Amino acid sequence: HASAISCFSQSALQSVLWLFIYLFFLRWNQKHVFITGCDSGFGNLLARQLDQKGFRVIAGCLTEKGAADLAAATSPRLKTLLLNVTDSASIRSVVEFVRREVGERGLWGLVNNAGRSVPIGPTEWMQLEDFAKVLDVNLIGVIDVTLQFLPLLKKAKGRVVNVASILGRLSLTGGGYCLSKWGVEAFSDSLRRDMQHFGIKVSIIEPGFFKTGVTSVDLINADLKRLWARLPQDVKDSYGATYLDDYIRMQGFSMNILCSPDISKVTWCMEHALTAQHPRTRYGAGWDAKFFWIPLSYLPSFVSDFVVNVLAKG
Ligand SMILES: NC(=O)c1ccc[n+]([C@@H]2O[C@H](COP(=O)([O-])OP(=O)(O)OC[C@H]3O[C@@H](n4cnc5c(N)ncnc54)[C@H](OP(=O)(O)O)[C@@H]3O)[C@@H](O)[C@H]2O)c1
Repeated sequence: HASAISCFSQSALQSVLWLFIYLFFLRWNQKHVFITGCDSGFGNLLARQLDQKGFRVIAGCLTEKGAADLAAATSPRLKTLLLNVTDSASIRSVVEFVRREVGERGLWGLVNNAGRSVPIGPTEWMQLEDFAKVLDVNLIGVIDVTLQFLPLLKKAKGRVVNVASILGRLSLTGGGYCLSKWGVEAFSDSLRRDMQHFGIKVSIIEPGFFKTGVTSVDLINADLKRLWARLPQDVKDSYGATYLDDYIRMQGFSMNILCSPDISKVTWCMEHALTAQHPRTRYGAGWDAKFFWIPLSYLPSFVSDFVVNVLAKG
């Protein structure tokens, strides 16, 4: 008799446990999240992380290979789409697909994550189109994607998560990157205020330095050499013969120290912004962002100029 009771209570406990697990997954499995730039880095990890939690993830990838690799690593629930955020027509067709997928529920989450860093380097080495290349992806792309998704986000009273950077608070280097991230900060602030009326919440992620494609020193150095090679001789002379090599050496040295391999610190912030009842407006991601770069950005410019100069010269 006693063993029958213990058997019964064990199976009751098991059923309750399964019910909790079922309810946990049910909580998110009607919610759709669209993420840009899922081929690699933060976007790729976030797509896999949310897929495991039961979200209906629609992942925008720039390349066929990125899409195929992600699809192979995730559940059949996750859908991949090709998306180039600099191409309005490409965004339009993605929005059409998402509209059919989400139906009357609308889109719960939009994560504007796609981005590029190069060309990045000394301002004088840039030409106008170098600025445009980065601004087109990191800022105009974010604006275009957001505007086209707004009707679906309003339907769900959803969330927008924009990936800025600590370089959107401190301009540490020349080229379009810092400009684009300052732009993302400003765009997100106005969007948040304008969309409050519709119940849409907007969060900004401000990561410090992490080891991913955008911080790849091989990529950045190869591009720096290209920028240097096309400079007129008198401009090169004004910098001196060793400037490029010193710049590359110092940058490699500091990136090596600064870049954290643990990119989940960023995706946890993104997940919080999508799931918390009260998401934060800004998330500083990584110790360097929280305890160094963001505090430094509040100090007077002569202090941050001094610190940045010391770091750059080593
Ligand atoms: N890593 C950091 O330290 C750091 C710090 C602060 C902010 N961020 C920001 O975090 C976001 C994600 O970057 P990540 O660090 O994860 O680097 P990542 O691995 O290079 O991821 C960026 C992704 O965006 C894709 N992409 C580039 N151009 C695109 C376009 N025109 N349309 C659609 N997708 C495009 C890239 O594809 P391809 O690889 O095929 O080019 C790549 O998959 C970016 O906005 C970046 O600026 C990164």
